[in-house]
Amino acid sequence: GTGKFFVGGNWKCNGTKDSISKLVSDLNNAKLEADVDVVVAPPFVYIDQVKGSITDRIEISAQNSWVGKGGAFTGEISVEQLKDLGCKWVILGHSERRHIIGEKDDFIGKKAAYALSEGLGVIACVGELLEEREAGKTFDVCYQQLKAFAGKFMLLTTDLKSIFFQGKPNAVPSWDNIVIAYEPVWAIGTGKVATPQQAQEVHVAVRDWLKNNVSAEVASKIRIIYGGSVNGGNCAELAKQEDIDGFLVGGASLKGPEFATIVNSAT
Ligand code: G3H
Repeated sequence: GTGKFFVGGNWKCNGTKDSISKLVSDLNNAKLEADVDVVVAPPFVYIDQVKGSITDRIEISAQNSWVGKGGAFTGEISVEQLKDLGCKWVILGHSERRHIIGEKDDFIGKKAAYALSEGLGVIACVGELLEEREAGKTFDVCYQQLKAFAGKFMLLTTDLKSIFFQGKPNAVPSWDNIVIAYEPVWAIGTGKVATPQQAQEVHVAVRDWLKNNVSAEVASKIRIIYGGSVNGGNCAELAKQEDIDGFLVGGASLKGPEFATIVNSAT
């Protein structure tokens, strides 16, 4: 990849006001290399606290967003509200939302297109289950998930009046605002990290798919980041791989100094 290294910390459904205040202070005191995009994704209810206390060096992501404009959607959070709080990104298609909550490709693709159309960056997650890997379906599963994202993104650029919008998008959707996260489900939260070769192989396949189905330019510029049991000890080897442009970190992002090590792993 040619893009700037990108490291996201997905805090998932963890933390309290106190533990988050400590984590933010550790991150504010950490030395983060300049040439890396650094993003953290707190639970919705702590986004405002984090935005108000964290260094501007670190951008904020949400972990999910509603599929369209806000309104009578009990329990949901809209893209407009996330922007109001200062979020720059949203994680969509995370395996926990796919496999625990039951979100499907079409819904995820619409969410991603809506977020992009409102100017939020999208961290678009793809990845196979263990049984899919063992059945030799890893690439097929990733392609299917990519197709759902790309299909909706391309609809945005060709059909601005598409069914899920009331009116026009507020932002010109751009692939520059998309980061792809490859997260093999068997590696998430299991301590069983993909080998650098396993990750690199899928990242190349994702880039090839984008080249064949979107454009050579998008394929060469887009950041493809790896997620799944990344920690301070294994990040450097993974970061050396040609097509690994960063990380999406879960558990290890809850520890400030270790997250800083991962942020700095490419240099
Ligand atoms: O979004 C992050 C991934 O799900 C990875 O989580 O680092 O705890 O395995 P993990």
